Amino acid sequence: MNYEQIIQLALERGFYFPSCEIYADAPAGFWEYGPSGVSLKNKFMDLWRRELVRRDRMWEIDGSQIMSQSVFTASGHLSSFADPVITCQKCKSIFRADKLIAEITSIVVPESADLEQFDKTILEKNVKCPKCKGSFDNAKKFNMMFKVGIGPQSEPAYLRPETCQSIFVDFPRLYKTMRGRLPIGVAQIGKSFRNEISPRQSLLRLREFYQAEIEVFCNPNKLNEMDGFSEIENTVIRLMVDDNTIKPVTCKEALESGMVPNKLVAYYLALLVEFYQKTGIDVGKSRFRKLGDKEKAFYASVAFDFEVETTIGWLELVACNYRSDYDLKSHGNVSKEKFEVLDNEVKVLPHVFELSMGIDRSLYTILEHSLREDKENDRVVLSLKPYLAPIHVGVLSLMKKDGLAEKTEEVFSKIKTKYDAFLDHSGAIGRRYRRLDEVGAPFAVTIDHQTLQDDTVTIRMRDSMAQERIKISDLDSHLARETGFP
Ligand code: GLY
Repeated sequence: MNYEQIIQLALERGFYFPSCEIYADAPAGFWEYGPSGVSLKNKFMDLWRRELVRRDRMWEIDGSQIMSQSVFTASGHLSSFADPVITCQKCKSIFRADKLIAEITSIVVPESADLEQFDKTILEKNVKCPKCKGSFDNAKKFNMMFKVGIGPQSEPAYLRPETCQSIFVDFPRLYKTMRGRLPIGVAQIGKSFRNEISPRQSLLRLREFYQAEIEVFCNPNKLNEMDGFSEIENTVIRLMVDDNTIKPVTCKEALESGMVPNKLVAYYLALLVEFYQKTGIDVGKSRFRKLGDKEKAFYASVAFDFEVETTIGWLELVACNYRSDYDLKSHGNVSKEKFEVLDNEVKVLPHVFELSMGIDRSLYTILEHSLREDKENDRVVLSLKPYLAPIHVGVLSLMKKDGLAEKTEEVFSKIKTKYDAFLDHSGAIGRRYRRLDEVGAPFAVTIDHQTLQDDTVTIRMRDSMAQERIKISDLDSHLARETGFP
């Protein structure tokens, strides 16, 4: 199913919708999750915690969204976190230079290319303003940080553009109080903020967005001493070899051939693939793309993007950056705090490898890879993994009379605090099933006249539409078995 169909589903079934939509001055790039979206997001985050954070006994923190100016002086964001923009001389419209050039000419000028490179391409290819055909001024840099003023004196501070800065700033305290040993992962889920020049495509380029980030602090001399490697050495990852070829290789092969630089990186790339497989995303449509020098973020020395193919192209879901000692060294220099730690009695300034996951884009991709049209049965089905479904089970009365409504409410009350259950009395039963199919509910339980006699209900499976009769007393164990995490 395509982008438009996902948007329609999102708007009509309570997944997500534009922020402040009743007002004409609502800025672009801000979207809100409705009840179905929040439920899916929470389950996605639980799966992430389970498959990555708990699996590796990482520490999870919850840092501030507003951080001091010094943090971003040290991190380099105030000087380097900027996109190239071009302004139309005639109508004054502003565009992101790399995106507009790519759209009009299909030429890829990396976003961190020298500004002259944009001007040269615009001149050579005669790129004009798409709104008024005017010519462009020379390209400039636009810093994407959101500045805020603290207190009556309006002291400058900033909304964080990535969650990981608090992980770096907090590292000395965490390592001491939690009695750390390298390598150790520190994780955080939360919002980040970027003043994007052209936010678009709903969840895909937002100004306020969710990240799930993991920063693995490691000893740079021990990147091939990774205990967990044997667990994943046969996991297949799909590496992009050149512009046209994706090569599926085991992690062992990727390491031996030098396609992945060390065991630590290979281990985390494998964990990512295993995680996404459990979200229902088709990892057969994924790739790790190694970024060139001009494409990498300013803090990364090696970077792989985990990308997934969708109907609107390849989407970057996770940036996997080897940030070396860039962040700890800079924060050490600016703050004068000590960031070295002892690793087996040897003093070391840890390096960092990060998995920076975009939650909103991941949710979009899950929806796109799960939504299907079942023409034979005239329905649209969101075949989500049962443990990610916003609603686990619909509880329906066949009709309201003859005491069926009361019995239905009794069944609903028994399960409503443990499962995401949805009570529905009204409308034709077929239409009620269709609505549940569209929101991804894997089960529907129907209470009918037989229920009053023998305390059984029918349970209908979303994907096969098969129905079976089970005892109400078995409903809990049935749902627990079918909707639990794998
Ligand atoms: N922390 C890396 C990123 O936000 O892309």
